[in-house]
Amino acid sequence: MDMFEIEGARPLRGTVRVGGSKNACLPLITAALLSEEPTVLRGVPNLRDIREMIGLVRHLGARVEYANGRLEIDPSGFQADSVPYEIMRKMRASFYAMGPMIARLGRAKVSLPGGCAIGDRPVDLHLRGFHALGVRMGRSAGYVLARHEGLTGTRLSLLGTNGTSVGATCNVLMAAVLARGTTVIDDAAREPEVIELCNFLNSMGARIEGVGTSRLRIDGAERLHGTDWEVCSDRIEAATLAITVLITHGSAVLENVPREHMESALFALEQWGAELKWKGPRALSVHRGRGTKRPLQIVTEPYPGFPTDAQPQLTALLALTPGYSAIRETIYAERFMHVPELKRLGARITSPERGRIEIAGTGALEGAAVMASDLRAGAALILAALAAHGTSQVRRIYHVERGYERLEEKLRALGARIRRVPESEEDPGMTEPPAIVEEVDSSAIVVDGGPPVTPARTMGS
Ligand code: UD1
Repeated sequence: MDMFEIEGARPLRGTVRVGGSKNACLPLITAALLSEEPTVLRGVPNLRDIREMIGLVRHLGARVEYANGRLEIDPSGFQADSVPYEIMRKMRASFYAMGPMIARLGRAKVSLPGGCAIGDRPVDLHLRGFHALGVRMGRSAGYVLARHEGLTGTRLSLLGTNGTSVGATCNVLMAAVLARGTTVIDDAAREPEVIELCNFLNSMGARIEGVGTSRLRIDGAERLHGTDWEVCSDRIEAATLAITVLITHGSAVLENVPREHMESALFALEQWGAELKWKGPRALSVHRGRGTKRPLQIVTEPYPGFPTDAQPQLTALLALTPGYSAIRETIYAERFMHVPELKRLGARITSPERGRIEIAGTGALEGAAVMASDLRAGAALILAALAAHGTSQVRRIYHVERGYERLEEKLRALGARIRRVPESEEDPGMTEPPAIVEEVDSSAIVVDGGPPVTPARTMGS
C-alpha cells in the first residue's frame, strides 16, 4: 500500500481543472442498463469507484469500453439478476443496480450494503419506493430479493428520518421510468446528481417533470433508447481544491467549476474571508484575500445547504482559523473520523454532543503521520498536511483514490511537495532531540470531550 508524504506550508498557485463528477456518474452507469441500445458517457473520471461500477455492469452482462474519459456501455447482454456481497462490499453505490434490474428484468437479488466508515447508511427508503411501485420483497442471508409482475405508477414519499435521500431518489427513479402509468415522488432529493440523472434519463426518452424540485412526476415509458452524454463536473472536487488553495495561503484559478451547484460552499468560503471571482462562466479565481479570517458556524444539510461531503475539508480550514468555529452534521452524525487525525497535527477540536464539533482555531499545524478513514476524511488530512509545518505522512490513500482523479498530479502542478511512497511499518526512532514547536499547556490536551489529560501524571513523574 502507498501513502503520501507531504512537505507542508507552501502556498499553492496556478491553474487546475476540475474533473467529471464521480457521484453523478455512478447512477448514470447503471441507468444505461435501462435501454437495450448502447450509451456513451463523456468526461468520466478515471477513479476506483468508477472502475468498480464498470466491473459491476460487466458482471450484469453489459459490454463496456472505457478510454480517455469516454465510456461506452452496450447493455444488450444485460441478464444477470444478482449483485453478490463480493461486489457490494467494495462499493455501496452498487445498490444503484437494483432499480434497473427491477425495471428491466422484473427481479433482483442484491446484497445489502452493510456498514460504512461515516456511519450507519440504511437502504429502507430505496425499498420503500420499490414496494410502492408494486415490487414484492424479501430478505435472506444478507440479500434483498425482489420480484414483480409489472411496475405500476403511484404516488410515494421518500422522506426519511434524516431528510431526503439522493440514493433512494435515483434508484426509485430508475425503476419508475419504465413503470406503467404515472409516478409522483414527493420529498425527492434535489442534489445536482439527481438533476443530472433526470436530464440523462430524459435524453434516453424518459418523461420526468419537476426536475430540480422535491416533487418529480414520471410518465412511464415503454422503452428507452441509448444516448450520448457529457457528465457534469464535480462540485465536491471543486470545493476541495478551493479549500486547498485557501488553507495554503495560495492563489489559483479553478477551471470547469460547476458554478450552479456551488452556491452554499462558495458562500461559506466568502463568509470566511476568501476572495472569489468568476473569470468566465466556469473559471473561478480563488484567493485567500487580505484581512483576518472569520470562524464559521456551519450546519450540513441536503442540497442546496452546505454539503456533508465538503465538511471534513472545511473542518481542516477552520482548525487553522483563529477563533471558535462549530459544525453540526445533520446528514451523518458520526462523520467526524477525521477529527482525531487532525488533532495529531495539532488541531484543537472537541465534540460536546453527537453530531457537533467545536473548533478552537489555531494559527499553525505541525506535520505528523495520519491515517485516512474514508474518502473525504482523507482529503481533509491531505490539505491539512499541505498547510502544516514540516513533513506529514497520510496513510490509506486508497480511500482518496476512490474519488479524486490524479489528485497528486494536480496538487504537484500547483507547487505542492507531495510524493507517493510505500507505506512502511518502521518507526524511524528519535534521531535527534525533538524541536519543541510550541509549549503545550497540558489542559489543552483533551481527549474527545473527556477530562484533560495531564502529561506529567501519565508519564509517572
Ligand atoms: C450520496 C453520496 C454521498 C453523500 C450523500 C449525502 C453518492 C455515491 N454518495 O450518498 O457522497 O455524502 O449522498 O449527500 O452519491 N438514508 C436513510 N434511508 C435510506 C437512504 C438514506 O435513512 O434508505 C439516510 C442516510 O443515512 C443519510 C441521509 O439519508 O443520513 C442521506 O443519505 P443519501 O442521500 O441516501 O446518501 P447516499 O445516496 O448514500
